[in-house]
Amino acid sequence: MKTIITYQTLVNSSRSRTRTAAQSLRQSRPSPASTPRPHLPHLYPSSRTAMSLPPLRPGSTTAATTTTTTTTTTKFLTTAARKSSYCTIAPATAEPPQSPQKPPTSPTVTPTMNPAEVIASTFRDVPAESHGPMWERLWTQSVTPWDRAGPSMPLHDLLAERTSLLGPAAPTAASGNKRKTALVPGCGKGHDVLLLASWGYDVVGLDLAETALKEARENAEAVKDSGAYKLQEGVQERGKITWALGDFFADDFLKEAGVENFDLIFDFTFSCALPMSLRPKWAARQAQLLGPEGRLVILQFPNGKPLSLQGPPWGVNSDMYLALLSRPGEEISIDEDGNVKEPEKIERREDGLKRLDLYTPKRTHVIGVAEDGTITDRVSVWAH
Ligand SMILES: C[S@@+](CC[C@H](N)C(=O)[O-])C[C@H]1O[C@@H](n2cnc3c(N)ncnc32)[C@H](O)[C@@H]1O
Repeated sequence: MKTIITYQTLVNSSRSRTRTAAQSLRQSRPSPASTPRPHLPHLYPSSRTAMSLPPLRPGSTTAATTTTTTTTTTKFLTTAARKSSYCTIAPATAEPPQSPQKPPTSPTVTPTMNPAEVIASTFRDVPAESHGPMWERLWTQSVTPWDRAGPSMPLHDLLAERTSLLGPAAPTAASGNKRKTALVPGCGKGHDVLLLASWGYDVVGLDLAETALKEARENAEAVKDSGAYKLQEGVQERGKITWALGDFFADDFLKEAGVENFDLIFDFTFSCALPMSLRPKWAARQAQLLGPEGRLVILQFPNGKPLSLQGPPWGVNSDMYLALLSRPGEEISIDEDGNVKEPEKIERREDGLKRLDLYTPKRTHVIGVAEDGTITDRVSVWAH
């Protein structure tokens, strides 16, 4: 029997685990009673197919003022970001070491475990190169607490309001009237794929979990007449969607989709699904897949979670992305607090990506907002 897990359950369990992490890091924080808590909707509505999407129009959600940020925000965000992680778990040191004899592909999962525990147990002691089947396992168990049941509002707002950064989404005479191409790696149920198609992009929704793509197709079918992803203003034609089963690091999906590179890549909860050991490879692959005039857009989550803590989601921060993408493929140095060492000394290699912008989105998913209402997510935009 599939267990339906609510976001509230998850957040409650994250809070108690976060306290363990905080204690071990000797960090102080206000008592939970002294800070107002946001309304936390159930992650899954009673019908799995009739999902209500968050409003897309600017101004229709509680919004904070857009601010351009610097990388110095990382430390101050740590506590808030940890509270809002979709499955915050204790640091590696808080867990007793596992017996090396324990087979990594047979985690003990019981029906009473909360999603954070299931995820921790699923990935514990499993080497990074064997993570693929673990994701499929979570999808078949319906342990998908990351799913937001709707598209990323910061991506919509970027497409709608910052055309100078991305260029026009729809085909233009200058582009030979060719539709632009986009990639959403680790697309899950594909909400952002549907959004990009409504902006006229031909989109590849890539995931290595077969069940994720099955649910993405069902989701696309369920929302198709709802008007949730109606064509955006000025866009003549919806983009084509290719649901590709495959590994981000392998070329098969490119052949299947008939593309070599992309005009836009959107990374949300994908880089955080990869442990630190895979991040240099992630950066090299992003640089390779991004077309010459393309833009990599990252919705940074869980922004500020120390890089030394267990995942998924493994932590991310602005310095980390800068270090990785400035020198794709190179290892980065992290101090014992989980921060990038000497970020001010990072020099971009000639083939590294340039950060065009880094800002706080004016609205975002509930998990990207701290209990006091501060938006912890960041958006960064990159180019060759
Ligand atoms: C945390 S989930 C996020 C899903 C989606 N972005 C969302 O926000 O709902 C990460 C997804 O990445 C997929 N994934 C992990 N490693 C991958 C890889 N190497 N190639 C393609 N997909 C991968 C997993 O199967 C999973 O569906």
